Amino acid sequence: MHLLIPAAGSGKRMGSSQNKLLLELLNKPLLSWTLKAAAAAQTIEWIGIIGQPYDFDAFTHLLNSLALAKPVALIVGGETRQVSVFNGLQALPPGAKSVLIHDGARCLATADLFDRCTEALNTCQGLIAAIPVKDTIKVVDDHGWIEATPDRRQLWAAQTPQGFEVALLKTCHQWGKEQDWEVTDDAALLEKCGHPVKIVPGEETNLKITTPVDLAIAEFILRQRFDSSLN
Ligand code: CTP
Ligand code: MG
Repeated sequence: MHLLIPAAGSGKRMGSSQNKLLLELLNKPLLSWTLKAAAAAQTIEWIGIIGQPYDFDAFTHLLNSLALAKPVALIVGGETRQVSVFNGLQALPPGAKSVLIHDGARCLATADLFDRCTEALNTCQGLIAAIPVKDTIKVVDDHGWIEATPDRRQLWAAQTPQGFEVALLKTCHQWGKEQDWEVTDDAALLEKCGHPVKIVPGEETNLKITTPVDLAIAEFILRQRFDSSLN
């Protein structure tokens, strides 16, 4: 399985002056944790990191210290996540039939989650990791009034990894580009093109590190993992 890691954002909501993926979490850059999990996944055989060229020195430095036993490519990202993934798809090795896309910012995903997604991709053309939402979700109008309360039993929070047949995802990305669609995940492009996308049970701890409080929660979860591995 090939894995693309979008890592070309700036982390505006984190309020940091650099890419949030280079912020330290338990003495390692956040992206290192994502890469360690991907490297530990038995089914991943190639990793492409999509980043901005000004971060490539830092990425190379962290790759040198991780010394992963899998080939890793650096790919130039774009202005939006959608463009970054588009670029990543063009840079896949020829012959790549399927791909997992996993946000660098989801640094707590486990190797098991990657492997479960790879396995599930044998049974469908597109899938995403997701978990049932815990909150009651409101649809709100521009003036702050509630329009609707969707039935929570039908609501799932989308995560990554998201997995796809490469040819299908490339077609949907190309179509989305031509139609000027703006989406925040890759599954949305398949949905808009009318293709089914399957849900794979995600992980409650698979947070996307977005704001400073997420960093504190991630540190807590990682420390707990270490403590339980020592017992
Ligand atoms: N990403 C990317 N290319 C972009 C924007 C985002 O590859 N042009 C990546 C991020 O690096 C991250 C993932 O997509 O791993 C999810 O994006 P998000 O959490 O929104 O990260 P940022 O865009 O960096 O954060 P913000 O939206 O707060 O600026
Ligand atoms: Mg963003």
